[in-house]
Amino acid sequence: MTKKLYIKTWGCQMNVYDSKKMADILASLGYRAVDEPDDADLMILNTCHIREKATEKVFSDLGRLRSHKEAKAEKGEPALIAVAGCVAQAEGDVILDRAKYVDMVFGPQVYHKLPEMILQATGGQRVVNTDFPPESKFDELPVDAEAQGPSAFVSIQEGCDKFCTFCVVPYTRGAEYSRPAAQIIDEIKRQADMGAKEIMLLGQNVNAYHGAGADGSTWNLARLIAAVADVSGIERIRYMTSHPRDMDDELIAAHGDLPALMPFLHLPVQSGSDRILDLMNRKHTAAFYFDIIARLRAARPDIAFSSDFIVGFPGETDEDHEATMEMVRKIGFSSCYSFKYSPRPGTPGAAMGGIVSEKIKDERLYALQDLLMQQQRDYNSSFIGSVQPVLFDRRGNKGNGQLLGKTPYMQSVYVDDAPERLFGQTVNVRIEKAFQNGMSGTVDTTETILTNTSTPNKKAEAA
Ligand code: SAH
Ligand code: SF4
Ligand code: F3S
Repeated sequence: MTKKLYIKTWGCQMNVYDSKKMADILASLGYRAVDEPDDADLMILNTCHIREKATEKVFSDLGRLRSHKEAKAEKGEPALIAVAGCVAQAEGDVILDRAKYVDMVFGPQVYHKLPEMILQATGGQRVVNTDFPPESKFDELPVDAEAQGPSAFVSIQEGCDKFCTFCVVPYTRGAEYSRPAAQIIDEIKRQADMGAKEIMLLGQNVNAYHGAGADGSTWNLARLIAAVADVSGIERIRYMTSHPRDMDDELIAAHGDLPALMPFLHLPVQSGSDRILDLMNRKHTAAFYFDIIARLRAARPDIAFSSDFIVGFPGETDEDHEATMEMVRKIGFSSCYSFKYSPRPGTPGAAMGGIVSEKIKDERLYALQDLLMQQQRDYNSSFIGSVQPVLFDRRGNKGNGQLLGKTPYMQSVYVDDAPERLFGQTVNVRIEKAFQNGMSGTVDTTETILTNTSTPNKKAEAA
């Protein structure tokens, strides 16, 4: 008999990828994914611990799941509630104490053990598993059975050894681990055979990749990307999230040499002040970051950048904040994420003096976001009138044949009344309107379907 599985996912793309893997492994146990928890036999919250708000949402959601579980129990049907992901890893059995109706708590490194954990929970045990087992879950998880679509995510690296003083990731995901290249290439080939044209290589610290190569040597990310570019059918390659320190010469050169490597890079910097970067243990200065940006622009002049920023880290003064603003003005980003510093229990930052008040954090965030949003609008507007190759990877829900996709520069583009046959294709789109978060246009009638459209060293033409 098929059982119903509900998974809700918070946090980074890594969690999204993990949720897919959990669904795959549970499919082999007869679970079918459903969109609502109402009648589910197994409810999993795949959680994020990065900021306090994210963590609190988990407990409010658990309350809702509890009522579904109780409603089912009244009908004599058992249901299981599980907390997975980084909150599970960080809080462990505290969750079981705080929420008596939770059956399972397990961290990101033990998803391959789901079958035995479910067996224990079905037998009435409350399961907690926050181990970092010696074996890699990637060796144990089933291979992708289902197509992800035109744009596929493949996890290549997990964990982090950087220990930025604000961040929980090294504790929740553990030490850096790189999957062997052959395993990654196999997964990409399977997705390509099922229609994927774009691959997003994922990792918490993806450019620290150093996996066992197919030839017996250790491969860095540049070497891996070159191998991915050789997979038949793959037109576009991206990777995230990178650390400035790990942008090595080969990787920078790859941006100029490999047409399939898209001209967009998410490169979190967090702050523009050397003093704060040092307190954050980022292991780089502002000048180092500027230099990386300049070298990437030299390799690929049209490359677009996005970043992450934290405002209000302990000790941050007005001057430090101004250094961040100045960095943003100088570089010019195409899109960015910015956050108020959230002290995380157990991280060095949480014990630092010089706490910045909420009011000042609000003011700094407002000023920074105002600037970043302006840059993003200006960036998108500069594309009006140009023709861009867009890989259509999503369908709109307006019912008017709307297709959505991305430019090489990672901007979202939608086209209304597009023929369905263009889904999954890279198509020339004439950009007509620009918004804060994307652009819209019409399919260009000449040369509609393209392959491998990205041209290094050539700025996108604005007509
Ligand atoms: N591995 C990536 C991303 C880690 S988490 C990196 O090296 O940058 C994603 C973003 O969340 C970070 O880049 C940072 O900007 C933000 N973040 C992490 N911890 C935070 C905290 N305690 N408070 C506020 N923002 C935080
Ligand atoms: Fe967190 Fe820093 Fe590692 Fe990124 S590099 S995951 S911010 S510790
Ligand atoms: Fe969140 Fe864990 Fe990702 S804390 S950002 S889900 S690595």
